[in-house]
Amino acid sequence: MALPLPPGNPGLPILGETLDLLFDPDFARKRYEKYGPIFRTALLGRPAVFLIGAEAAEFVLSTGMEHFTWREGWPQTFKLLLGRSLFVQEGEEHRRNRKLMMPAFHGPALASYIATMEAITRRYLAKWQTLGEFTWYTEFKQLTFEIASQIFLGSNPGAETDRLSRLFTTLTNGLFGLRLLPALSARQKILHHLTAVIQERQQNPTNDALSLLIQARDEAGDRLSLEEIRDQALLLLFAGHETTTAMLTWICLELARHPDVLQQARSEQQHLGNQEITLEQLGKMPYLEQVFSEIERLHPPVAGGFRGVVKPFEFQGYQVPAGWLAQYSILLTHRDPAIYAKPHHFDPERFNPDRPDAKRQPFSLIGFGGGPRICLGLAFAKLELKIILALLLRHYTWELLPSQNLEPVLIPTRRPKDGLRVRFSPDYTTL
Ligand code: HEM
Repeated sequence: MALPLPPGNPGLPILGETLDLLFDPDFARKRYEKYGPIFRTALLGRPAVFLIGAEAAEFVLSTGMEHFTWREGWPQTFKLLLGRSLFVQEGEEHRRNRKLMMPAFHGPALASYIATMEAITRRYLAKWQTLGEFTWYTEFKQLTFEIASQIFLGSNPGAETDRLSRLFTTLTNGLFGLRLLPALSARQKILHHLTAVIQERQQNPTNDALSLLIQARDEAGDRLSLEEIRDQALLLLFAGHETTTAMLTWICLELARHPDVLQQARSEQQHLGNQEITLEQLGKMPYLEQVFSEIERLHPPVAGGFRGVVKPFEFQGYQVPAGWLAQYSILLTHRDPAIYAKPHHFDPERFNPDRPDAKRQPFSLIGFGGGPRICLGLAFAKLELKIILALLLRHYTWELLPSQNLEPVLIPTRRPKDGLRVRFSPDYTTL
């Protein structure tokens, strides 16, 4: 006998429940509470299924991968704005490109980025000290963009990098279809800039990630074309700063709210000394890593991943037909009380490896996705977060300014609404 379709509500004709998804940060939670870990809805005329929990994530990201495509999952605007880049590629094309891009994000290449990340961060710390009060989301966005554009493109700070950063903000605002025309025009301007940089690097290779991409050859000995490099570089600049910005903002917010955690993280840094940051030191920050895992769990910048269903499947007593849209939920999986006791509570101790419950089932911490298509920039992002946080904790203090809205907004990445306004000052006991 055929299994039933998942429970749920298809919403309005054509629109389905699209507006609820865009504007209600509790969209998935409300339906999860009503229907359970698999429920149906409809988004822009297409039936859709939400899948919640570690087992569902393992199915979508790994064991049942052949039922899904990325390309038909992420909104059409992603294809228009991110072009033919890894994010919307499939099969052999995806495998080849991911392999060519990998060297820029691992091993010796990563280690070579440390000094640049530290130097740029120190410049921003001095700026924030002068400013005294500012909105951290905006500042982190400039900082992470400057790091990404210097490491990926070899760009120097200045008016051109600031212009590029603003163009990326416009492009990002169009990803969920709200302001598409300006976003398309921003994409053209970014591509124009990238073409000029790539042509220059083809003549004079340096040691930036772009030069690595230009020189990379696949198994057949072929190189990426100029169009391919351009689209992948655009994706890397976008993915390489938006999410990291959101995560930094949440970390600084929770540290300000939890002085005991802040103190423990600070004392770990102070034991490492206050000289420049080395690769060896970066391996000795287990408590900071616990804080990162807890932020990834409680405040994942990406709330879930979209897929198109290409082969029908059955899950937990329901059938899902081909052609549907699917979303695996990162946010709600991280708040499953069967995995994490008191899931709404911020507690880095839950990731202390000495705790008996620290080892959890696979796919229960999925802030960077998982399986063969786990975030390409995972190690890059963690390196950058560590360097920025280590320097902040060693030398500075901050407090939250009153009268600000810190409730999360989901789009384009999950972040506190007013962006976290702080008063910032040097920690005179350590300088
Ligand atoms: C805190 C920072 C970051 C977070 C939370 C994050 C999160 C994610 C998530 C959840 C996915 C998988 C989405 C899905 O399954 O549908 C993903 C994929 C990806 N991320 Fe990240 N990301 C971060 C930083 C970065 C950085 C720094 C880069 C590049 C420099 C990057 C590049 C990518 C790419 C290229 C993919 C697609 C990989 C593929 O399909 O093979 N990300 N990221």
